[in-house]
Amino acid sequence: MATQRKWLVWRVAVFLAALAPLVFWSWQVANNAAGPEPGRYLLLNIGIGGLWMLLLTLSLTPLTKLTRWKGFALIRRQLGLWTLAYATLHMLSYALFILGLNWALLGSEIVKRPYIIVGMIALIGLSVLGATSNKWSMKRLGKRWKPLHKFSYLILSLVLLHFFWVVRADMSEWAMYAAIAALIMATRLPPFARSLPKLRYRLSRT
Ligand code: HEM
Repeated sequence: MATQRKWLVWRVAVFLAALAPLVFWSWQVANNAAGPEPGRYLLLNIGIGGLWMLLLTLSLTPLTKLTRWKGFALIRRQLGLWTLAYATLHMLSYALFILGLNWALLGSEIVKRPYIIVGMIALIGLSVLGATSNKWSMKRLGKRWKPLHKFSYLILSLVLLHFFWVVRADMSEWAMYAAIAALIMATRLPPFARSLPKLRYRLSRT
């Protein structure tokens, strides 16, 4: 019972931590502290937030393998759904603040900014993964569930491409995210994945 309460507290803490940036950015906008373009402020921050959520979600499996701490595995689904929530809010900010809900502009926008198509494909992918992140879908999909959810790495690559396309001058921020993504992806490659238990053993002796 005490253990169950401990995990509930952990899950609620993660929920609040994931919600906090959204509350902070909204508060900044409400208090005119978000600069001259509050809509763009929300769009860009929520976009970066979505990328963070995706990176965190994908780092949970290697972290679980490395530490054997159950807490990481317990929040995987929640963070995956937060990724989808951030990505959806990012898209809604675009529709509201950039398009002004004028859908007739979308065609010319896509021609002007083709990276929007890449973002849309990533969002569709995240929606499919979100819709199948439940016990019922796991049961129905059986052995196909895991390969389907491996598409999250392709989605991460698409998000990085989307971001790469957006950057105009300084690439250092993008390069940092790309390096974190490359490290996470490397941990899923067979030689690295096999060495994780050995690394855990070595860490436990230090
Ligand atoms: C329908 C889907 C999407 C649309 C319409 C969209 C649109 C945009 C736009 C207009 C920008 C700003 C470009 C500029 O600086 O002028 C942007 C940036 C960005 N988007 Fe998206 N996006 C979509 C999906 C996604 C998804 C799924 C993610 C991540 C989960 C994402 C992450 C980012 C990031 C990290 C940036 C760069 C932010 C920065 O420069 O600080 N986007 N997106």
